[in-house]
Amino acid sequence: MTADDPDGEDTRNVVDRYKGWPMDAIVADLDSRRHPFHVAIENWQHDFNIGSVVRTANAFLAAEVHIIGNRRWNRRGAMVTDRYQHIRHHPTVAEFVAWAHVERLPVIGIDNLPGSVPIETYALPKACVLVFGQESVGLSEEVRETADAVLAIAQYGSTRSINAGAAAAIAMHGWVRQHGDIQAGHEAHPAGS
Ligand SMILES: C[S@@+](CC[C@H](N)C(=O)[O-])C[C@H]1O[C@@H](n2cnc3c(N)ncnc32)[C@H](O)[C@@H]1O
Repeated sequence: MTADDPDGEDTRNVVDRYKGWPMDAIVADLDSRRHPFHVAIENWQHDFNIGSVVRTANAFLAAEVHIIGNRRWNRRGAMVTDRYQHIRHHPTVAEFVAWAHVERLPVIGIDNLPGSVPIETYALPKACVLVFGQESVGLSEEVRETADAVLAIAQYGSTRSINAGAAAAIAMHGWVRQHGDIQAGHEAHPAGS
């Protein structure tokens, strides 16, 4: 165990099942069950949403999180979940897209742009990479041009967009609703445990 308090209690923010497990054993167990979807986020200006994207990717057991652009990101919002999540850095969009092609993963851009199609009715591929843009600028032109599809989340209010962390949570949960083992997800995290 690596993060115990002096009384020997495991203070890490992990589900009861993992209390007392060494971190590498937890990662190995997660690796045996990871989902085939990946998430990627563009990071040209140190986007503050990345920590929250990593935490949600951990909760929904994404295969990997990909950071496109700057390697450095603010880990605070991840609440230490980054230790249990595979994170890969791609300095450029071209390198990221080349990786996705090698892995035969459809690149699914998520942004509410002209021509985007509704995510609510889109059949998400089981294996894919969901790509999010950053605050203010959104998905880069390069990602828009190379994506196999660009999907928008329905909105009804006055704001142009929601933040990328919220959009990522909705999109990942969209994947879970289509492909996840819902019962297993509720058994692994029983309410209140
Ligand atoms: C704050 S938005 C910025 C761009 C947005 N197109 C705009 O015009 O304001 C940052 C990122 O959050 C995600 N996002 C925000 N709202 C979204 C929506 N309604 N549908 C899909 N993605 C959204 C996208 O990945 C987007 O690139």
